[in-house]
Parts: sequence; C-alpha cells; structure tokens
Amino acid sequence: MIPQKTVQEILETAKIEEVIQDYVNLRRRGVNMIGLCPFHNEKTPSFTVSPAKNIFKCFGCGKGGDPAKFVMEHEHLTYPDALRYLARKYRIEVEEVKLTPEAVAQQQAEESLYILNDYARQFYQDQLFETDMGKSVGLSYFKGRGFREETIRKFGLGYAPNEQDAFVKKATQTGYKLEFLKKLGLASQYDRDFFRNRVMFTIHNLSGKPIAFAGRIMEKDVKAPKYINSPETEIYVKNKNLYGAFFAKTAIRKADECILVEGYTDVISLHQAGIENVVASSGTSLTDGQIALIKRFTPNIKILYDGDAAGVKAALRGLDMVLEKDMNVRVVLIPDGDDPDSYLQKVGATAFQEFIDKQSQDFILFKTNLLLAETKGDPVKKAGLVRDIVDSISRVPDPFKRSFYVKECARVMELEEAVLVSEANKAVHQILQKRDLDKRKKQEVKINIVPEDGEFPTEVPPDDQGEHSFVAPKPRTAGHEFQERDIARILVEAGEKIYDEEENMTVAEFVLGNIEDVLEDFDNPEYLRIAKEAMQLVLGKSPVTTQYFIGHNDQTISELAVDLLHSPWEYSPGWELHEMYLRSQKKPEENFNKDSLSALLQFKLRKVIRLCEKNQLQMKEVASDDSTQLLRLMKVQMKLNEMRNELMKQLGMVVLK
Ligand code: UTP
Ligand code: MN
Repeated sequence: MIPQKTVQEILETAKIEEVIQDYVNLRRRGVNMIGLCPFHNEKTPSFTVSPAKNIFKCFGCGKGGDPAKFVMEHEHLTYPDALRYLARKYRIEVEEVKLTPEAVAQQQAEESLYILNDYARQFYQDQLFETDMGKSVGLSYFKGRGFREETIRKFGLGYAPNEQDAFVKKATQTGYKLEFLKKLGLASQYDRDFFRNRVMFTIHNLSGKPIAFAGRIMEKDVKAPKYINSPETEIYVKNKNLYGAFFAKTAIRKADECILVEGYTDVISLHQAGIENVVASSGTSLTDGQIALIKRFTPNIKILYDGDAAGVKAALRGLDMVLEKDMNVRVVLIPDGDDPDSYLQKVGATAFQEFIDKQSQDFILFKTNLLLAETKGDPVKKAGLVRDIVDSISRVPDPFKRSFYVKECARVMELEEAVLVSEANKAVHQILQKRDLDKRKKQEVKINIVPEDGEFPTEVPPDDQGEHSFVAPKPRTAGHEFQERDIARILVEAGEKIYDEEENMTVAEFVLGNIEDVLEDFDNPEYLRIAKEAMQLVLGKSPVTTQYFIGHNDQTISELAVDLLHSPWEYSPGWELHEMYLRSQKKPEENFNKDSLSALLQFKLRKVIRLCEKNQLQMKEVASDDSTQLLRLMKVQMKLNEMRNELMKQLGMVVLK
C-alpha cells in the first residue's frame, strides 16, 4: 500500500506535459499544448494538454484526466501501479506501508478468532446433523419451520446441546484457549457453554467468515429470551453488520434493491424461496453503518415490517436518517400478526412476491397517509403532522425529489402546495443552519429567492416544456445551462480555494451556502450532481478539490470535471441583459471570489427571470375583470422586478469593481 502522504506528493509533483511528452509530441498553442491523440487515430491534433490545470483532454475521443489517469489509460495500469510509475519517473521514494509488529499481531489475533468461530460453527452443525439429540430436537425444529437441508447448511445453522460444557470441553481439548472462547462469548465466565439447548444461527461478515452466533430457544412462551447473541468483539461490530449480507450482496446488486426484514428467520425463508436480495437489521432500527453498507450495493431499500402497528410507528422516526443518505425507501406492511417468514410460508413464494411488489409504498407518502389517518380532521394534530412530514422531506438531499414530495404530500394532505413549499424551504434552511453553514449564507448575495408566503408562481415557465420530473430533469439547450455549468465549474476548479480569509471560508462553502434557493433550478442532472457531491464534502468537512472530481470513480463525473476545466467560461447566447458585464470581466481563474459571486448571482438572476416570464404569462391568462387576482400578480411582478434589479445591481458591482 502506498501511504496517503506519498500519493499526495506524487500527484503534486507529476507534470502532465512531462508525463505525456514521453509518449506524444506536443507543441504549444496559447496556454495549452496540443498533439496527436494516442488513444485514437487522428490526422489533425485534437489532443489538448493544459499545464496550468495539469490535465489532458482529447476533443476527438473524449478521453481526459490527470497524469495518473493518462498513465493508467496508456499503460493499462491500475491506479496504484500508475502512481508507482509516476513515483519512479520523479524519483519519489515509495515506502510501501509495512505493517507494524503490533498490526501483524492484531491481524493474527483476528485470524485466530475467525478460526475459532469456524470451529464452533462446525461443532454446532455436527451436533445438528450427527447426534441423536441434535437430529430429534434441533433438526426437526428447523424442518418443522420449513427449512430445507441445503438451506440449513448454507446459512450455518446448528444445534447447541443441552449440556453444561460440551463445547468448552471439546474446544479446549482440541487446543483452543479458554480465554479466546470467553472473548467470543462461546464460554461463560464460569467456563461453561454459553449457548445451551438452543438452535444456532451463524452470523457472517461480508466475506462470509463467521463472526458471531445467535441461539434461539425452541420452547414457546418461556421466560428466557427468545434469542441470545454473541457479544461484540473486534470482528463483530453489531451496528456495522447486517444479517445475511454475505449471501445477499450479489443479488442486491443485480436487483438494484435491498430488502430489509427484522428477523434471522425472515432472511433465511425468503432466501430459500428465491428472494435472495434480503438482509435483516436484527430487530433494531438501522444504524448509520448499516445504511452505509447497503449503499455500497444499491440506493434502493424496501423495508418489510412485521404486521404489528405499534412497531411500525416506532420505526418511522429512524427512517429519516435513511432519507438523509439520499436513499430511496419503500415500505411494505406484512398483514396482521405475521412476519415475512410466516406470511411467506402461509401464502407461498409467488403470492408473496406479488404482495410485496403491489403493496410497497414510497416511505414519505406511506408515513403521510398513516399519520393523516390518525389526525381525523383535527386541525391542531394536522398542523403537527405537516411539521413532521416537512421535517422528513427537508432531509432529502435531492431537490428534485424534494419537490416531488412536496407536490405529492400537499395533494394527499389537501393543502396548498405553496404552503408546503415554503415550510419545506424553511426547514431546509434550518438544517443548513444547524450544520453551521448559516453564517456563510447571504454574506454578499443578499437575495434569497424563497417565496415567503407562497406568492411566487410555482410552476416552471412554458418554454421549459413540462415539469421537473421526479427521476431526472430533462437536459435542455446549452443556452439555458451556462449559469449552472458555471457553478459546477467553479466548484471543480476552485472549490478548495479560500473565499474569505477572516471567516476561513472556502469558495465551495460560500457557493453552497448560498445556493439552496436555486438548487431546484438546475436543469442538468450532471451539474446538479457535482453540486450535491460538493455539498456532501462540505458537510463532511472535507475539502472540495479538483482532484476529487477528476479522480472520481464515476466516469461521467471525472470526464465532466475535465471538460469543465477545459472550458473556463462561456457566454450565454442571447443573454444580452448583462453580457456587457461579462465582457468586462477579468479572467475568472485570476479571481475566484468575483467568479463565484457572479456565477451565483447569474444563476439567481436566471431564476428570477424565469419566474417573471411565468408570472407575466399568468397575468395574460387572468380574466380582465378579476381584479383581485390581477392585483396579486402585479404585486408579485413588482417584487420580482425588485429582485431582478437588485441582482443586476450586485452583478454590476461585482463585475465592475
Ligand atoms: P423476532 O421476534 O421477530 O424473531 O425478532 P424472528 O427472527 O422472526 O424469529 P421467529 O421467526 O419468531 O423464530 C426479530 C429479530 O430481533 C432479534 C433477532 O435478531 C430476531 O431475528 N431478537 C429478537 C433478539 O436479538 N433477541 C430476542 O430476544 C428477540
Ligand atoms: Mn419475526
């Protein structure tokens, strides 16, 4: 492994033109250098290298990136090997991280825990299949629950005999140390077996190694706990583990959806029935670590709740956390009294699958409906409900989804959409405030285009053809996009630069702290993604670096980043209103402050102008004798005009000062 410090040094040292000139003849053209692209056949050079930005881009085949990317592509190397190549070229010593003796010891200790757990798993399995008691008690229990032998073996199910120390004795005789048995919770503090007279469930980590056990009691209605579980150890961190994840991960990727159930037996049952993309939270609400685990495989979760209403309501609150992580959550209520396992056994696999397909509902709408039924027209309760729902909606990071929810929830609750819009806006602002971004807001950009009392036209102007769709906004003509492209460019190019020395505020923090009211107005999903990713970096207190975007795992993002860096600024065709300001502007790369401020103002101006157009259209449509309506629209128009003038004024100041 290459230490992070060295990676940084390599990336900072490698000069794009020097790396490329080992393979390609380059000649100067202005600030850039050009040559014949090594990645595709061409006679006229379209392969451009920017020494200033330390990137290359071919306008013929589209390939582009930083020095490491060039080496990767050209030499067909992995990223680490490309770094090693560059290190050799620049004589940077790569001291591959060697494990310290402690780390080696740690690794060996962990390894021995896995080995011991695997020994235990085998012991419980042998007890289940090979002993009379195991067969007559344990195996018949599992068979009675409909588990087939192959399933039982696959999931590492077993039987812990009803004896004081059968396991401890055998394990210590084999040579395992009692100390380790205790550590793993296989032996009690009195040197006896911890699991006795229970059927056993092995808990695996993501690579299929046994990290813990759960033992289920077989008798019904006894006082003892239904399940007892292994303690946490360095190999079993409960809140980072999901039961069944090892067996589910491939299916989750394939289905692009993760089904979440409560119990071990639900996982096993569904799996056996061919529904393999299923994991269990093991009875508790989802933790951050578990959400992160799911998110590695899919952004879509479908939660199956046991059919008891009390449990569901308690679970609702925990789900806001999932929304914050930008995951799509659907929920299904299993009918009364059943859990997924028992319901599946009752109706069969086909009917079960149909049921969850048909009954699944979007989480926010589900919550709205569920709580609405309880308010029974009580206005006070309903007001509380609105707050609750708005709170959930405002946690959704994607503005397009947010606006979808605002619309839908307003419809379900029979409220004016504008009411919910303004509530949601307030809540979003509050969240940002809480996250310590507030003092970074409205610093210079005083105008926040938030309809205070819902008086702005809420739909998109007609030339935009249709509404923002829930899934993804339609890309529109470039002429309408240059403001948002500009925002994306600034984030990629200068996000990390200091905007305000006193406040120790970066360009990214400044831009993102002022962007909330126009986030919904991104037409282009890719620029929006850049803004969202940058937002996540800022919230996570990581720097928004060019390298982050250029080296992004997602090819679309890394290519877009390169592309943005290569086209520093554009004029909007027909944006005559303030083009003169643009023309008098200095080169943006020399002035990040001005650049980002003006980009923000431009974006806001575009929104105000769109709102103006929309409002004027509405004025035309209003019947001429409807004076109340006309008056209202005129007021809106005045306010919008004011905003526009103010924005223009600020833009003028930024550009001319
Ligand atoms: P359930 O009571 O629904 O258990 O608890 P289950 O898995 O459906 O088991 P069966 O089908 O009744 O046999 C759901 C989960 O909560 C945790 C376990 O992870 C269980 O799978 N739990 C429950 C415990 O850890 N301890 C308990 O005493 C009960
Ligand atoms: Mn259950």
